[in-house]
Order: sequence, then structure tokens, then C-alpha cells
Amino acid sequence: MDGRLTLNWLIFLLVIISFHSLGRVSGTFHENQADRRKLAAKEGFISIDCGIAMGSYYTDGETEIHYTSDAEFINTGINYNVSMEYIHEYTNQHLMNVRSFPEGVRNCYTLRPRQGKNHKYLIRARFMYGNYDSKNQLPIFKLYLGVDEWTTVNITDASSIYRKEIIHIPITNDIDVCLVNTHSRTPFISVLELRQLNDSIYRPTEPGSLLLYDRWDFGTQPEVQNIIREKDDVYDRIWKPFTWSSWLSINSSFVSSSFSTSDYKLPGIVMATAATPANESESWGISLGIDNDPSQKLYTYMHFAEVEDLKGQIREFTISVNDDESYAGPVAPGYLFSVTVYSKYSMSGSTTKKLSFSLKRTNRSMLPPIINAMEVYMIKEFSQSSTQQNDIDAIKRIKSGYAVSRNWQGDPCLPMEYQWDGLTCSHNTSPAIISLNLSSGNLSGNILPSFLSLKSLQNLDLSYNNLTGPVPEFFADWPSLRTLNLTGNNLTGSVPQAVTDKFKDGTLSLGENPNLCPSVSCQGQKKKKKKNKFFVPVLTSILSAIVILVLIAALAIIRKLTKRRETKATTIETVTERPKEGPLKSGNCEFTYSEVVGITNNFNRPIGRGGFGEVYLGTLADDTQVAVKVHSPSSNQGPKAFRAEAKLLTRVHHKNLVRLIGYCDDSTNMVLIYEYTSNGNLQQKLSAREAADVLNWKQRLQIAVDAAHGLEYLHNGCKPPIVHRDMKSSNILLTESLQAKISDFGMSRDIQSLSTDPVGTPGYFDPECQSTGNLNEKSDVYSFGIVLLELITGRRAIIPGGIHIAGWVSPMIERGDIRSVVDPRLQGDFNTNSAWKTVEIALACVASTGMQRPDMSHVVVNLKECLETEVASRRIQRVGGHSIGSGNFLENAPLVLSTEVVPHAR
Ligand SMILES: *[C@@H]1O[C@H](CO)[C@@H](O)[C@H](O)[C@H]1NC(C)=O
Ligand SMILES: *[C@@H]1O[C@H](CO)[C@@H](O)[C@H](O)[C@H]1NC(C)=O
Ligand SMILES: *[C@@H]1O[C@H](CO)[C@@H](O)[C@H](O)[C@H]1NC(C)=O
Ligand SMILES: *[C@@H]1O[C@H](CO)[C@@H](O)[C@H](O)[C@H]1NC(C)=O
Ligand SMILES: *[C@@H]1O[C@H](CO)[C@@H](O)[C@H](O)[C@H]1NC(C)=O
Ligand SMILES: *[C@@H]1O[C@H](CO)[C@@H](O)[C@H](O)[C@H]1NC(C)=O
Ligand SMILES: *[C@@H]1O[C@H](CO)[C@@H](O)[C@H](O)[C@H]1NC(C)=O
Ligand SMILES: *[C@@H]1O[C@H](CO)[C@@H](O)[C@H](O)[C@H]1NC(C)=O
Repeated sequence: MDGRLTLNWLIFLLVIISFHSLGRVSGTFHENQADRRKLAAKEGFISIDCGIAMGSYYTDGETEIHYTSDAEFINTGINYNVSMEYIHEYTNQHLMNVRSFPEGVRNCYTLRPRQGKNHKYLIRARFMYGNYDSKNQLPIFKLYLGVDEWTTVNITDASSIYRKEIIHIPITNDIDVCLVNTHSRTPFISVLELRQLNDSIYRPTEPGSLLLYDRWDFGTQPEVQNIIREKDDVYDRIWKPFTWSSWLSINSSFVSSSFSTSDYKLPGIVMATAATPANESESWGISLGIDNDPSQKLYTYMHFAEVEDLKGQIREFTISVNDDESYAGPVAPGYLFSVTVYSKYSMSGSTTKKLSFSLKRTNRSMLPPIINAMEVYMIKEFSQSSTQQNDIDAIKRIKSGYAVSRNWQGDPCLPMEYQWDGLTCSHNTSPAIISLNLSSGNLSGNILPSFLSLKSLQNLDLSYNNLTGPVPEFFADWPSLRTLNLTGNNLTGSVPQAVTDKFKDGTLSLGENPNLCPSVSCQGQKKKKKKNKFFVPVLTSILSAIVILVLIAALAIIRKLTKRRETKATTIETVTERPKEGPLKSGNCEFTYSEVVGITNNFNRPIGRGGFGEVYLGTLADDTQVAVKVHSPSSNQGPKAFRAEAKLLTRVHHKNLVRLIGYCDDSTNMVLIYEYTSNGNLQQKLSAREAADVLNWKQRLQIAVDAAHGLEYLHNGCKPPIVHRDMKSSNILLTESLQAKISDFGMSRDIQSLSTDPVGTPGYFDPECQSTGNLNEKSDVYSFGIVLLELITGRRAIIPGGIHIAGWVSPMIERGDIRSVVDPRLQGDFNTNSAWKTVEIALACVASTGMQRPDMSHVVVNLKECLETEVASRRIQRVGGHSIGSGNFLENAPLVLSTEVVPHAR
């Protein structure tokens, strides 16, 4: 190695990188085809290929990133393909088309990452003009992030790719990325990407976000000019290879995974190469030119890792900035471990118009300094203000509820010059909407309860629309509201007395509503459409079937009893919760069929099929997702089973049982609305093929404990006890955090009304019950035992070939062969004691007679022990593993690069 480093006497290197080329990547870079570490589809990634056909998507062959169309993130703009002459064999698909915005000053993409506000995200927009409009007019426009200006996009070359990147912590759940027309031709965009970062990295000590200046991978072979990103980099940072004639490149002979163990999760392929001065006696240096804005504050992150086996030699160096020798150090990178040295305070080049960094070997160092990678960011302060979140949510619900056709994008009130048309806002620290004018706005349908969520609204003008339905009583209880204009609609029913009273001094306009009865007195005249309406008084609706009333009363009581315990009692607008509206309303569970149509967007997202019909995904007014079960007349289960399920669900409330949110039961339509669990059911989860999706042993035990809790509650917590009768892995639903909830009570019966007609699913059905017809809680225990065996083995209840799972495990258990029993996808990563005990519980549950099977409460206790055993064993392993070689000692004691603080070298 030493031979290769033999020296050239070279002077300090100065690389001037001007701000003009900031963030610009040459169009000739192409990405490495090499088959690198494969990553499963990523949580925390949003990847939008702007301008492809609505609804289309694809997986990029090189990066394996899943790109989708932008249609669901924006509803303005026009799609174009770039001109053919700008497309080469290596042009990425996502650059081949753009969305262009000839209309409107501000056009916004709304990104809604699942983790929401107050987390750290890398947001990146890319632009390649490619003469998409055949006009050869290079535009200049602005990008806004939320309400603040982010940067200017100055396209000066049609074939270059312009990249704008920022590390940002949003204060709202929706992140608006807006293109603002500055009258210098038409804004457009090619790609928009968001990646969630770990909140613990890239933390400037000053307020502000980090704008990317540049990110370099040093020491890459010059002939391999490829950029490195996702597949190699879990955060999909784009690393540009950079080298210089007076540097030598050195590399480790292999890409060790230990390079990526620090919090920065640096890609091994980047860290395996490094730059070192060609003349061993010289220092290594790089200089950033910041002459057009010397006061710009910069933060740097330098990444080091030793790539040579030093065999006892010492490599040690100090870092200096602008020739001040004592900024940081000495640094002695650990072999194959990454260490990141970052500036604790910002730096600026206000006196020198440049920032020069150099690495100098210490006197005792036997080798020249090295550096593997470096990132430079500029601090960008944001006002971090926004309209009150509550108002944003409400006005967006109104926008989508009425499909408002105005150009309503980005933040409603800010910045003031782009305030939404029809809104007036109060401009306090956090603006609120105080007046809303939707006159002649083509609105139709009922008056939405979302209006009431605008807590500061004083004036509401809904005149000259096509609004139908009643005048809601909630207007009376809206403290801030002063004027209300409903002139020129098609409202029906009578105006509630409370509303008339509140607005008696002429602040209510109700003219030109031909079917509206101005006082309560005319209430008796109309006898149609009753309980179907959210806000119509209840008393007129008694003609409905008695069954329904019984159901409703039960619901009301249960809800009242449970209300105290629930933090978020309802997912529907608070309006309907007012107790004075009587028992029907306080139940808050009733939906009309037309509301169900709205919630499910006309049943357009089927998510499964249950015993009595299709299940659809729906969204309530407050954006809560729900599962909507619709009874199909052709299903083999009649209305009786439907009502049985509804009735049962109103009786049971437990965190491990799926929750009923509402129902719809008019004589023709029967619908149940449940909380939605986003992770599917256990059976699907257990058949996962991707390594990243395989449940680990601890997760499996936690699911078993959860499900056991739910079942235990049905058996022992309900009076009379409830037998589920169809316990199986596909009836165990998983929430986002993998909490298990038991579902499908369609066939459940309480113990008193048990019939003997055989129900249940082959493979799970209690053989004893099958022969005797005696169905009881122990039948559920048997079925639960089968679920446990599925969790342990990862196999189906009936294994292909028709073998029952219980028969399949027995011979192996008798041989004491636990490793063959447990799911091979776990690759032996479980505590054997824990696994043995779980198998024992499962086998006890599937004993041939009910007498021999344990009670669910015993099952819960024992499963919890299994979980504890597993957790404890992991803790021991982790403590044991930690002491082994942690070369990244500097991670915990970051060095400081700054003018203010000068930690001395020796
Ligand atoms: C390397 O640098 C040293 C010190 O600057 C100088 O004396 C020497 O001549 C250089 N060697 C070569 C080969 O340039
Ligand atoms: C872009 O090109 C694709 C195929 O090359 C074509 O299907 C699509 O319609 C084009 N889009 C536009 C907006 O011209
Ligand atoms: C855009 O870039 C060109 C070329 O670098 C420069 O001359 C021009 O002043 C820039 N325009 C703006 C508005 O920054
Ligand atoms: C972020 O890093 C911290 C510190 O290393 C770690 O404890 C945490 O699990 C990480 N979070 C994520 C989401 O990776
Ligand atoms: C980099 O690693 C490769 C593979 O081990 C090796 O062939 C090559 O010589 C190395 N290059 C340098 C500059 O060390
Ligand atoms: C108003 O809505 C009703 C019912 O949706 C519809 O029949 C009617 O055509 C609409 N009128 C106007 C003017 O849009
Ligand atoms: C209600 O709106 C109509 C039409 O915009 C207008 O003529 C009328 O004056 C308004 N009434 C009040 C009280 O603002
Ligand atoms: C008002 O609504 C009724 C039905 O509720 C409908 O028949 C009528 O056409 C509507 N009138 C207007 C002007 O839209």
C-alpha cells in the first residue's frame, strides 16, 4: 500500500465551486447497473414522477424505487413529454416527462407522509426542461415549501438536470411544495421525492432547514462516473463522485456492512473509497467558493472511515478551516467504521469569500490523511408559520366535500398574496379563517358539518348554490358566527328555532329557498325523509322498524357508558354529539345510505369479502379510514346474522376487538362501519415473501398475546359469555403498529342462544364439536391453538397436500426437533425456551377434548411469559454484542468546526 502512496510534492488544492452551478448535476451521469444490496419497498418514501398518465406507476429498474403518477398530489397543470432529442439510452424514465403549469400563479403538490409533522424529511425536486413545449424557452421560477420561499429555479440549459434538495422538519401534516410563476415563462417539474430521515441526524444548532450545497463521494475511480443513491443509500441521498488530479484514490478491497452502522447510515460503497493527497507529506484540501453571498451560513458533514488494514501504523490528522489549524482533531478513523465530523456551529466566508478545509497529518501519524465523503449544507430559515391546523383540515374537507373548483392550493391564508380566493383570515401568529364566501360556487349536497370546525369563522356566505337538505341546528351553537347567508339554494325542512333566535337581527339570509319552511310550525307538513338526515329532529322518525330502535337504544347506552373511557369518542363531526338531540343522535352511530356512498366514494375500493358481503375502504369527514361492510342480498347469511353482529359489537369494547364506528340499516341497505386496520390480516401477513415483511418471533408472540386477550374478553369479560365460532388467522386484523384485533363477529353467538348448526372454517373447527354438536368456549380455544401453530410454523392450517397442521407438527415435537417446527424464515432467530413453551400452549389448546384444553385466561398468562422470555433473551444478547468493536467512538463526541469554539488538539 505504501508504495502506491508515494509522494508528489503538491500544494494546497483549491477547488472553486461557484454558487451558479449549485445543485446542478450533469445530464451525462448515469447510475450503476451493478446488482447491489436489495432493499424492500420503503416506508417513509414518496416518489412522484411528475407528468406520467394519471394512475400509472412503475418500479425504476436501477434504483428499484417505486414511482407513481402525480395526479393524486395535485389537480392542476398539464402533462408533457420532453422532446425526443433529449432522451438517450441512459435517461431515467422519471425525467422523460414533466408537468407544466401555464395557469395560476401558485400551484402546489401536497405531500402527506404517514409519520406527519415534526419529523425530519429530505425533500428533493428535480427538473429537466428538455424543450417539452417545443418553444425553447428556459424558465425561471420559484419553489415554495409551505408558506415560505425555498429557492429559485433558474433553468439555463435544456438538457441539464437541476436538483433542489432540503432537509426540513414540517410543522403541518401536509407538506406543500409549490411552484410559483415569476413571469419568466412557465414553471414545470420532473420529479418530486420525499424521504424520511432519522430525526437524530443532520441537526444544525441554529433554527432553520438545511439546503443542499453539494454532496461528494471522494476516491471513486474516475472512469466509473456513476452517482450513488437508493439501493446503496437507505435514505436515497444522491452522492456525486468527485476527484482531483492532486489526490490519490484508495479503497478497501471489499464493501463492509460495518461502514453503514452509524446513525448517518452511510452507503458502504461510498465509504469504501477515499481520497488522500498524492504527496504524502502534503495536506489534503478543498475550498468552497461562496463569493456571491459570503454571509451565507454553511454546515458541513465530513465522513471518514479507514479503508486500509494499517497493521499497527497510525493514521491521524487534524482538520482546519481557512488556514486556522486548530479547528478539530485529531481524527483517527476506525477500520471499516464510519465517523462523521460535523460543524457544531455554522460557518461563513464573510471575510475571505471562501471556505477552505484542509486535513493535516499529525506529527506522530505515519500515513497521510484520508476523507471518504463530505456534505455541505446552507442554513435556510423558515418563518415556520401556517394557518391553524384545525382550519386547514376543515377547509380541505370542505374543498373535497363539495369538489370546490377554485384554485385552492397550498396554505389557505399564507403567504398573504396567495391567500385562497373567497377567504378572509385573521393575521395573528397563527392565522385563522374568519370569513368564507362561497357564493355562486356550484356547491351541491347538504350543508357539511365541517364548516363548524372553522372555530373562528364570523361570516359564512353560501348564497346561490344548489345546497339541499335541512338547515343544520349547529349554526345556533357556533359562538363566533355572526352572519350567515343561505340565499338562493334548495334547502328543505324547517329552520330550527334556535337558529332563528341566534340570528334575529337580520344577520341570517334565507331567501329564495322555495322548499324551506321558515319556522318550526310547518314541520308536521312534510312526512318524507326523516331519520336519513343527520340533523332532522328525531321525533318524526318513530315509524321505523322496532328492531332498529332496539338496536339504536342499545348503541346509545353502550356509547354513553364507554364515552368516559374513550379519549376520542367519535370519528364523526362533533356536531352530532350534542346530547339534547335525543338518544338517537347521541348514539352517533347512524349513517344514511347516501352518507355511506359518500364515505366509500361510491364503493370504489373493495378491500375484501366477509361472510355476508363485500368490504370497502371508506374515509370519514375527518379523514379517519374505515372498513365498510355491506350486506349483500345474495349472501348466504341473512339480515338476522347482520343484526346479530351489530348487536354483539355494541356490547363489546376491547382494544383487541375491532371497533364498530357506525351502521346503516334502512329497510333495503344494511351496512356496518368499522375501524380500519391498515396491515391486513394475520393470514396475509404470515404468507409474506419479502424478508422485510416477515414477522419476527417477538412480533408473533405479541400478536398471540393480543389476540388471546381479545378472545379472553369475549369468554370472560362479557355477560353472557360470547363464543366467536370462527376464530382463524384471517379474522385477526393488524393495525399499523401490528396490534392484533379480532374481527368478524357475524357468526358469534352468546352462550344462551347457541344453535348447533355447524359453522366455522375447515382446519380450525373443533373436531369434538363436530362429532357431538356441543359448541362452547373450548371450541374457540381449539381454533386459537391452530392460529398459534400457524404463528409458530408460518404454515396454513391445512398444509398443501391436505395435511392438518396439528398432525404435521406432532412427530417433530416428539423428536424434540423445535428448529424444524419453527418458521424457517426466522432463520433461527428466536429464544428456544420461548418457542418450546409456545408450542406447548398450542398443543394444549388443540387437545382432542374440551376438558383437556386450557381456559383462555391461562393461555394469556402463559403466552405473556413466552413473550417475556423472548424479550429478556434479546436484551442479554444486545448487551453482549455492544462491547464488540465500536470504531465510531467520535459519533458520541462530535468534533467542532467553528470560529467560536476552539477545542485544542493536544
Ligand atoms: C512532497 O511535498 C514535500 C513538502 O511539501 C516536498 O518537499 C516534496 O518535494 C514533494 N514531493 C514531490 C515528489 O513533489
Ligand atoms: C408521452 O409518451 C407516451 C409514450 O411514449 C404516450 O403514451 C403519452 O401519451 C405521451 N404523453 C403526452 C402528454 O404526450
Ligand atoms: C439565471 O442564471 C443565469 C446564468 O447563470 C444568470 O445570468 C441570471 O442572472 C440568472 N437569473 C436569475 C434570476 O437568477
Ligand atoms: C434513529 O437513531 C436513533 C439513535 O441511534 C435510534 O435509537 C432510532 O431507533 C433511530 N430511529 C429510526 C426510526 O431509525
Ligand atoms: C480497489 O479495490 C479493487 C478490488 O479489490 C482493487 O482491484 C483495486 O486495486 C483497488 N484500488 C485501489 C486504488 O486501491
Ligand atoms: C341541483 O341539484 C339537484 C339534485 O342534485 C339537481 O337535480 C339539479 O339539477 C341541480 N340544479 C342545479 C342548478 O345545479
Ligand atoms: C346574501 O347574499 C346575497 C347575494 O350575494 C346578497 O345580495 C345579500 O345581501 C346577502 N345578505 C347578507 C345579509 O349579507
Ligand atoms: C330542489 O330539490 C328538489 C328535490 O329535493 C328538486 O326536485 C328540484 O328540482 C330542486 N330545485 C332546483 C331549483 O334545483
